[in-house]
Amino acid sequence: MVKMPHEVKETIDNQRPIPIATASNDGVPNVALVGLLKILDDETILIANNYFKKTEANIKENPKISFVVHDGKAKRAYQVKGSVELVTSGSIYDDMVEWVHARNVNLPAKAAAVMHVEEIFNSMSGEHAGEKIL
Ligand SMILES: Cc1cc2nc3c(=O)[nH]c(=O)nc-3n(C[C@H](O)[C@H](O)[C@H](O)COP(=O)(O)O)c2cc1C
Repeated sequence: MVKMPHEVKETIDNQRPIPIATASNDGVPNVALVGLLKILDDETILIANNYFKKTEANIKENPKISFVVHDGKAKRAYQVKGSVELVTSGSIYDDMVEWVHARNVNLPAKAAAVMHVEEIFNSMSGEHAGEKIL
């Protein structure tokens, strides 16, 4: 796992929704928008699974996940990659339900998708395009 630097966390915090990419075991890609995503700590991101279908199926057979975020004013963009687990009990799940239902009590809050950050790449165009940061 890697620790997200401040500027990466700030870029994530400032963008909603965020498109998250998963893939099936046989390599079929899928992308879905999420609004309910928050940083738990420097290495961990929580995503509320309310309505995932292909995303959930993909995670169950292939835990790899990636998303991209962009801040036009700060001229920053990052690809964040990692592994995700679906958590349906315990304190992380209970906290997720409380957080989601504080927004909207009608949301299903099926599972906490807990992403462990493994790699971060620069996603801005230019001389450092695509370079691995961590
Ligand atoms: C702006 C926006 C924000 C969304 N946020 C979430 C979210 O936080 N959690 C979730 O489960 N679905 C969210 N959705 C719904 C999913 O993106 C949608 O159900 C999508 O079909 C899931 O993709 P999948 O069926 O390929 O898994 C959001 C949709 C939009 C348009």
